[in-house]
Amino acid sequence: MGKKLFCAEDRRRQAVRSMPRLVYDALDGAAGRETSSQENMSALQAIKLQSRVLVNVAERSLKTSFLGRRWHLPFGVAPMGMCDLFWPGADRALAKAAKTYGFPLGVSTMASSPMEQIIEEAEGNAWFQLYAGQSDDETYALVERAQNSGYQTLILTADVPALPARPRDYRNGFAVPFSMRPNHFVDFACHPKWSLQTLINGIPSPKNVAIQKNKDHSGFRRESGRDRIDWDFLSELRTRWKGNLILKGVMSCEDAKRAMATSVDAVYVSNHGGRQLESAPSAISRLSKIRTVLGDDTSVVFDSGVRNGDDVARALATGADFVMLGRPILYALAGRGERGLNEFLRLLIDEFSIVMAQLGCTEPAQINHECIASED
Ligand SMILES: Cc1cc2nc3c(=O)[nH]c(=O)nc-3n(C[C@H](O)[C@H](O)[C@H](O)COP(=O)(O)O)c2cc1C
Repeated sequence: MGKKLFCAEDRRRQAVRSMPRLVYDALDGAAGRETSSQENMSALQAIKLQSRVLVNVAERSLKTSFLGRRWHLPFGVAPMGMCDLFWPGADRALAKAAKTYGFPLGVSTMASSPMEQIIEEAEGNAWFQLYAGQSDDETYALVERAQNSGYQTLILTADVPALPARPRDYRNGFAVPFSMRPNHFVDFACHPKWSLQTLINGIPSPKNVAIQKNKDHSGFRRESGRDRIDWDFLSELRTRWKGNLILKGVMSCEDAKRAMATSVDAVYVSNHGGRQLESAPSAISRLSKIRTVLGDDTSVVFDSGVRNGDDVARALATGADFVMLGRPILYALAGRGERGLNEFLRLLIDEFSIVMAQLGCTEPAQINHECIASED
């Protein structure tokens, strides 16, 4: 029996202990001095919610409608690449959880399991996340593959025109594909459980794209390719993709308006958890502005900095229709796998339900700007 963990921070500390530093830093790290990543969390915490009394909240439902579907929860899991690196079988555990709890799982282009396997395991509760590669043909082939395997929602991530400087990764010599350095041996030897499991299950690699080793070969190169996509690409994608299309990484009101004018189904406000631009404002500070310019009838997804049930409510109150979580999900998987993930999800569900009761709400759709405590 492992130690009891009560919040995302407990799980983060457990993640530090359970995996090599190189791997933990690839999970937890952010761009530059990591100020944007920190501010995502502090700006969320600065939002105060208004509790209400004498409302009958005995019958509460966490269900919500989003993009033409009823979900059991108003939150899901953000797309994250290479999840099996943090716990072998993480992709499978996530897909199973998406099916069991009824939330959407973001499936990254860089996922460590084939997209077909994940959507099957998740029984359809999955959204495919697209990174554009160097070649349009290969990119559209990926889109077609997603469509053929039953994905109804596509997320285009547009906030990675270049790979950012992440000092922790530089320091550790972290790269995809991975190549072993002498200092890694010590790091791995100090974490025998992770090392043994990874050895037995095989070092994970991206399973939806072939990683190109150098510029002259075909395939997907992590270092480039995403810098050339533009609004014309989005229009073309809109024409080809028949399902729901979400644009991820939107931080500007102008971009949000233009995305809606290009007929996307939802704007996904995110600064990638502060992993792209050190000097970016907190994502939550942009959410309220973007909601104001888009009005009430537009669908908005949010991530970056969400750590507990209160944060989910804060994001909904600030203007999100749906909230995604990134790192805390990986902290939960680290060292404990499926058990850790289930413990965390149950905790999150309980926390969110309690916050709803405090706010006098019986369903997530009731959480709006009126739930934010005014200054006076
Ligand atoms: C390890 C890791 C890998 C990620 N990989 C992707 C990815 O492949 N595609 C993508 O759109 N976002 C990716 N993200 C960003 C997440 O989707 C999300 O925007 C971010 O984690 C939210 O911030 P939070 O971690 O503070 O919750 C990744 C994040 C992490 C931590």
